[in-house]
Amino acid sequence: MSSEYKTVEGALVGVLMGSASDWPTMKKTSEMLADLDIAHECNVISAHRAPRRLEAYCAGAEERGLRVLICAAGGAAHLGGVAAALTHLPVLACPMQGWSLDGLDSLLSMVQMPKGIPVATFAIGSAGAVNAALFAAAILAGTDEGVRDRLLEFRRKQSEAVHSLD
Ligand code: RP5
Repeated sequence: MSSEYKTVEGALVGVLMGSASDWPTMKKTSEMLADLDIAHECNVISAHRAPRRLEAYCAGAEERGLRVLICAAGGAAHLGGVAAALTHLPVLACPMQGWSLDGLDSLLSMVQMPKGIPVATFAIGSAGAVNAALFAAAILAGTDEGVRDRLLEFRRKQSEAVHSLD
């Protein structure tokens, strides 16, 4: 089964997306995680086109060392909800802009999870993709001093880069 998806030794974050067409946006998640030196793996595993693959991925996720899943999907976006149902790891969901409703469909699909299985949902598109990586870092920072230091450094530099108008 594991040949159906890519695993990275030591990965703490699993980034999943419903389609390769989500990658231009989710590349920003991967880049942010890489900037913070957080080992992660990226896979396309659609909840509706490859449900058994998703089940297998989620079943082994915690044992392999993953601590957070980031799930991106567009349209009637159920990848985050299904992944959250299949594992108790925290699931962060990124709504993709989509093809007709500008991502509002995916945002509502993700954020309106009925009680019992939470999915933390981020902004539509790039802002959410980057913030999901930062939120994953904040989760990991609770138990990983290195991630904490790098996240605080990122935040310090970001504050420094805020300038007043001349
Ligand atoms: C979702 O449908 C994917 O996450 C993607 O955002 C959207 C469109 O997928 P493609 O038709 O581009 O493969 O499942």
